[in-house]
Amino acid sequence: MIGYKFMGKAHSNGYRNLPYFFDTPAVPVLQAIAGRDEQGVKAAAETMGWASYETDWRRLLERDDIDVIDIVTPNNVHAEMAIAAAEAGKHVLCEKPLAMTVEQAKRMVDAVKKAGVVHMICHNYRFAPAVQFAKKLIEEGRLGKIYHIRAQYLQDWIMDPKFPLVWRLRKEVTGSGAHGDIAAHILDLARFLVGEFSEVVGMMETFIKERPLGEMTGGLNASANSGKMGQVDVDDCSAFLARFENGAVGVFEATRFAAGNRNGNRFEINGEKGSIRWDLENMNNLQVYLTDDEPGLQGFRTINCTEEHHPYAGAYWPAGHIIGYEHTFINLMKEFMEGIVNGTSPAPNFEDGYRNQLVLASVEKSVETGSWVKISEVDPS
Ligand SMILES: NC(=O)c1ccc[n+]([C@@H]2O[C@H](COP(=O)([O-])OP(=O)(O)OC[C@H]3O[C@@H](n4cnc5c(N)ncnc54)[C@H](O)[C@@H]3O)[C@@H](O)[C@H]2O)c1
Repeated sequence: MIGYKFMGKAHSNGYRNLPYFFDTPAVPVLQAIAGRDEQGVKAAAETMGWASYETDWRRLLERDDIDVIDIVTPNNVHAEMAIAAAEAGKHVLCEKPLAMTVEQAKRMVDAVKKAGVVHMICHNYRFAPAVQFAKKLIEEGRLGKIYHIRAQYLQDWIMDPKFPLVWRLRKEVTGSGAHGDIAAHILDLARFLVGEFSEVVGMMETFIKERPLGEMTGGLNASANSGKMGQVDVDDCSAFLARFENGAVGVFEATRFAAGNRNGNRFEINGEKGSIRWDLENMNNLQVYLTDDEPGLQGFRTINCTEEHHPYAGAYWPAGHIIGYEHTFINLMKEFMEGIVNGTSPAPNFEDGYRNQLVLASVEKSVETGSWVKISEVDPS
């Protein structure tokens, strides 16, 4: 694993707990993590249960006791690391967004395909049992033809103007702001549940244009590291309308300025025969409305997706004994390990990351031009 802070902790926990809950054909061995700061990476290895550490991530690629590279570093280094890992014959799990640009994402897809390694991108929210159950209902035709998706990813952790200018607010490291960070997640859910985007029109805004320089310290915490100020050059919020290839339409909003919303990742999907709603902060539940229900009894019902009938749920606890955020990573890693054994790259893989990047780029182009952009306009392939 390369990097060891917020996602480093989430992924380490995922690998450690995978064999505890699932009878997986490949059991991850936490062999080595890499980080630039020896003291920090050594402490992280001890806390998170890794057998060894390296201070140069390239050393991991030279080691023949390592089969998989997991990239949990900022976005500006995903491409370099993933391509080098593939060239070294290692399977790759990469955090989202896949890359900074469509061109980088394309090179990453080409590299994993050429090397024949297994690849996935960590859109973990697909793996909430309630989201998987929503997918099953849609595939079974229970909602009929899909008309709408409206999805929001609402956070508030950078609202304080004194919150430092960390890597997530610097374009050269992150690519974009709320857009690539959290809109990427809801548009992945939309691709998963509704289908491929065909065109988008968007807007973005940066509310706080200057902040004190600083660094992330773990989770979504940060500290200022000098008295200096710097310019914010990414979006604080991104909003866009979309059309899908199957005729559905979508409304999307991602912001880190929605006071009181800590991690409000939500969607509602409306079809000709009913609707579903999901909210990460109440992630075990799926709200389902079916137009076939008897008049007088119609209304949204709440399905607690913790039964054995619900994807992944049976691996954990008895019905009603809820699971949490960290289990989405465990479920994703189960698919990744099975993919490695079978030689297939389960979705969401780098192809999905590439398609996601196309939508991100189309919205960015639309913000520049002030007009609708077809996804095909930014797709070099
Ligand atoms: N799937 C999700 O829900 C989710 C949530 C948060 C973050 N992410 C993604 O995970 C990635 C990491 O985010 P994070 O929140 O863990 O960030 P973080 O700041 O908490 O941790 C980043 C880690 O990368 C290391 N690092 C930075 N540059 C490096 C380099 N050049 N070489 C080696 N190590 C380097 C840092 O030292 C740190 O250990 C990002 O791509 C982010 O978008 C995904």
